Amino acid sequence: MNVSNQEHKLSVSHFILMGFPSSPQRQLLYFGLFFVTYTLTLTGNAAIACAVRADRRLHTPMYILLGNFSLLEICYVTSTVPNMLANFLSTSKSISFVSCFAQFYFFFSFGCDEGFFLCIMAFDRYLAICRPLHYPRIMTRQLCTGLVVFGWSCGFILFITPVVLISRLPFCGPNIINHFMCDPVPLMMLSCAEDTTTQSIYSAFNAFFMIGTFLFILCSYALVILAVVRMPTAAGKHKAFSTCASHLAMVFLFFGSIMLMYVSPGSRHPVEVQKIITLFYSVITPLCNPLIYSLRNKEMKAALRRVFGTEILFIKHKSNIVVI
Ligand SMILES: *[C@@H]1O[C@H](CO)[C@@H](O)[C@H](O)[C@H]1NC(C)=O
Repeated sequence: MNVSNQEHKLSVSHFILMGFPSSPQRQLLYFGLFFVTYTLTLTGNAAIACAVRADRRLHTPMYILLGNFSLLEICYVTSTVPNMLANFLSTSKSISFVSCFAQFYFFFSFGCDEGFFLCIMAFDRYLAICRPLHYPRIMTRQLCTGLVVFGWSCGFILFITPVVLISRLPFCGPNIINHFMCDPVPLMMLSCAEDTTTQSIYSAFNAFFMIGTFLFILCSYALVILAVVRMPTAAGKHKAFSTCASHLAMVFLFFGSIMLMYVSPGSRHPVEVQKIITLFYSVITPLCNPLIYSLRNKEMKAALRRVFGTEILFIKHKSNIVVI
């Protein structure tokens, strides 16, 4: 009895990701929409990362962090969107057990890394604006590299525990996830043994991470804003303020939607609402990142023009030679 039960429990080898259930025409429409969004996200973020690498004028900690943040955005969307696109065209919409948990792990680790990068960028702005005389001595190349390594690795280390805990829950069917990605909340609901310990560890973990990083960022920018208000010159004020405004826009977009999803009071939003909120932080935020940074930032715009302007000229030049 016990043995057969045990065997039964091991039977889920794959999950079905329902995505956005609708007619085949609608699925095609969604495919087109998300394909365009994904392409724009990749192009925009890659342009920023290339501009930072190629232009020596942007080899300062603020832009190095921003360049890495753009790379991170690329990884973050790539952990979910290609699979989602494939599912729009597929009729089976299935994902293997291992892929499902790998997606969960990568998506949340990269997401967690984004939170850390937003913290590091806030800390960098705090030092530059509130401690301008000490800034070059504190924010050295080594510290910047150290912070970058810390930012990239932290999420991956932290999320081992939740992924291992949740993947060890018994899944004995049904295996249908009403979501477009392997989100832990619907996954835990599919488990056939209610495990409140895992659920509480997971919730505590999320709350701790989100509230901690969000408070850190808010405090940093509160100090920055106080310092900006006290600045003597209007020009200095304006520059510092516009940089921080774009950082803060990112912070609110990202944390706003995550908090709505995971720590809002009496958290159970209807499934359709959950999917839309998830779209905000998994698809819309990475798309907005390059817009926010490159449209508002003169130096970034100039660098993009220098880097891509010359490259386009170069291609024209080469094709002229070929023609001649
Ligand atoms: C990311 O950070 C590393 C280490 O500081 C730096 O060498 C690299 O150029 C950065 N990447 C981008 C795209 O900015």
